[in-house]
Amino acid sequence: MVAKAELHCHIEGTASPALAREKAALYGVDISAFVRDDAYIWHDFTSFLVAYDAISMLFRTAEDYADLAERYLTRLARDGAIYSEFFISTDHAVSAGLDPQAYIEGLAEGIRRARNATGIECRMIATGLRHIGPEAVEHAARFVTANPHPLITGFGMAGDERMHHAADFRRAFDIARDAGLGLTVHAGEFAGATSVRDALDALKPSRIGHGVRAIEDRDLVKRLAEEGIVLECCPGSNIALGVYDSFEDHPFKALSDAGVKVTLNSDDPPFFHTDLGREYDIACDVFRLDDDPLRGITRTAIKAAFIDEETRAKLLAKLLPVEKPA
Ligand code: ADE
Ligand code: ZN
Repeated sequence: MVAKAELHCHIEGTASPALAREKAALYGVDISAFVRDDAYIWHDFTSFLVAYDAISMLFRTAEDYADLAERYLTRLARDGAIYSEFFISTDHAVSAGLDPQAYIEGLAEGIRRARNATGIECRMIATGLRHIGPEAVEHAARFVTANPHPLITGFGMAGDERMHHAADFRRAFDIARDAGLGLTVHAGEFAGATSVRDALDALKPSRIGHGVRAIEDRDLVKRLAEEGIVLECCPGSNIALGVYDSFEDHPFKALSDAGVKVTLNSDDPPFFHTDLGREYDIACDVFRLDDDPLRGITRTAIKAAFIDEETRAKLLAKLLPVEKPA
């Protein structure tokens, strides 16, 4: 099995419908509008975000989050992952009535449990939500930089990228950059190539979440390749949300062939009926990548990870192909 790494997954988006039902029963919440026949119910990006918010409200204690992170990471390790970076959202924790420090400590505990059980390495990326607006995103950046945690090594922005202008979030990203956090921005998913260019110009991230619609602008593709910007591609998410009609139409391979650094990710796995293993399988079956290029994708992810150099070197060493006996 090729070793895998994931850079783009929202921790609240990893809860299975079964776990959501369990929590809903525990807390006496009716989630019948959001779960049916063991699948989440949504029909477009807006209703997906509504369902996502509703499900995240079912996680209310540090232990709920420790359990969520432990489940996600142990499953990921079983699928061959050696590294994960997941997005956290203090806004979601506060909305659920949980103290953001307790939220972070709970998640860190889940990471420790999974690491002890499987050896998987993990870091967290704090995010602000674009559709709540620049002040809220700046508040998220101020909180995480005023309360540094060794496992939080990045800052990003998720949410509805059709709202506001990238430049509105400049201060939040300056705060995070000055604190030494790695930067990533969701762009080029539901908004076109311009959103990717605007994010690069205004926020100067080293990675873009999705970014696939950059393919609509040849000069931008050239720029991504030249500047070594890493795209956190999530093909299964893009198909589920209707960004592209089929995997055959997805620009993953075209971007890679144009010299853009691409990685594979699951985004919100049970919402999109996917997981990291399936994303690698799709890359093999549809994009026709065999073990060597797949290992190369994992290597790109590890090289772009927001981790200290010692850990990066250890992870890269795990990627050396095992010598075949003569
Ligand atoms: N939050 C969770 N999943 C997301 C996605 N695919 N795009 C933007 N924000 C998100
Ligand atoms: Zn995402």
